[in-house]
Amino acid sequence: AALVPPASDLADLTVLITAGPTTSPIDAVRYVTNHSTGRMGAAMAEEALRRGAHVRYVLGVDKGVVRPVPSRDSADRLTLMEVHTAEEMAEAALRFLPSVDGVIATAAVLDYRVATPSAGKLKRASAATSLDMVPSIDVLGALKAAATGQWFLGFAAETDNVEANGRNKLDSKKLDFLFANPVACTGESTTTGFAVTTNGGILFRAKGEPLPLPVMSKTELARRLWDSIL
Ligand code: CTP
Ligand code: CA
Repeated sequence: AALVPPASDLADLTVLITAGPTTSPIDAVRYVTNHSTGRMGAAMAEEALRRGAHVRYVLGVDKGVVRPVPSRDSADRLTLMEVHTAEEMAEAALRFLPSVDGVIATAAVLDYRVATPSAGKLKRASAATSLDMVPSIDVLGALKAAATGQWFLGFAAETDNVEANGRNKLDSKKLDFLFANPVACTGESTTTGFAVTTNGGILFRAKGEPLPLPVMSKTELARRLWDSIL
């Protein structure tokens, strides 16, 4: 195993991390979501805690699905908030923002939500074959708009044009860092993206050249990303 330095180089730091998917209810028993598991966010949080930081962790959850959370060893430095919708995630994240130095947005936030979820269960006989959807809140955008000097690391999972899309997102969202990685949700043997323990891609930086980071464990990748932020 690689030598991991015992570090406290993040001891003075408080970071906000968004992680996991968001959900949007269709009716009382159904919802829309995506394949995110929250693993990358958990890895970023674990590494931050290992190096002495305080972590405010806003995690998208859904009923009955177990998601990885940062280890409880450093529980005194970890504040965990579980949310469901993009709107709940934004509310929780905005509440933490004034007390953090930086923001790491690993969450896979739904861009659209169901316009009018049904309170009861939709019946088969209703024969509904389409869903009206409206834009949901841009959590990262809302945080940027309310920021008072915090730095920002965003993530982008792309099926096509990873490099161009990554660079565009760094610029258009005015981030300090943007990590872009390829994703594919079909097939079993993917090494990057959703629900796997490894990841690899390109770290775009507002100050500095893009840094290619080959496929490695999400733990190792988190270490490399934190090194870059420092
Ligand atoms: N993000 C967010 N809220 C949203 C959408 C995205 O906070 N409603 C954040 C993600 O956590 C990520 C970054 O924004 O850090 C980029 O997400 P991405 O979905 O790649 O960006 P979009 O602008 O939504 O682009 P796309 O059309 O590719 O989905
Ligand atoms: Ca999106």
